[in-house]
Amino acid sequence: MISNEYALEQIDWTTIYRIWSERLWPNRPNIKPYTPMINATEYDMNIHKRAKDNWMYHNGVFWGIRYLPQNKIIGVNSGHQCNNKLFRSRGLFVYKDHTRKGLAQILLQATIDFAREKDFEKIWSYPRDKAIPTYKAVGYEVGKPHEHEAYKTADGVWISRWNAYAELML
Ligand SMILES: CC(C)(COP(=O)(O)OP(=O)(O)OC[C@H]1O[C@@H](n2cnc3c(N)ncnc32)[C@H](O)[C@@H]1OP(=O)(O)O)[C@@H](O)C(=O)NCCC(=O)NCCS
Repeated sequence: MISNEYALEQIDWTTIYRIWSERLWPNRPNIKPYTPMINATEYDMNIHKRAKDNWMYHNGVFWGIRYLPQNKIIGVNSGHQCNNKLFRSRGLFVYKDHTRKGLAQILLQATIDFAREKDFEKIWSYPRDKAIPTYKAVGYEVGKPHEHEAYKTADGVWISRWNAYAELML
């Protein structure tokens, strides 16, 4: 329990998927609980197979913050294994009415704590420029934001975003 109003809990894929697809990545096709990225520019396609086999934590672990007065999840983050040493933090979102209370930092910290407990060596993420202060506040070293084509919508339109590589040694 974070306070009388908020509680942190692990949530399931269906719950986080709904929030990701409706609010964080609207119109993004084919949202999965993981990606094959191992940093901002490199991929390991073996991640697809290991996630499909549901091997260890490749297929994602999901956290939510419940707003107790309405019994509703109002913030989420996830993590997934990239390989034996590397864990990725992904998909941070806090509903606007509940921002500026430190809840995003609590979600990031839960993901860091999990990766540390499971003996991963490093956690990385790819935050949007606006979220960089939140990542720095929990100890991530964050590089310079750069523009990139994040995904193509079903209508064939490329969505570009400003993100920065961020990592933290565990
Ligand atoms: C970016 C986002 C996750 C930030 O959520 P948040 O919960 O407000 O983030 P934080 O926990 O870091 O808190 C943010 C601010 O509140 C302040 N704060 C933290 N705890 C506080 C508290 N208890 N009381 C008052 N203010 C507090 C922080 O100091 C910070 O202030 P600053 O911006 O002036 O430095 C949220 O706005 C969001 O989901 N945006 C849309 C999607 C998105 O961009 N996701 C990130 C993808 S990487």
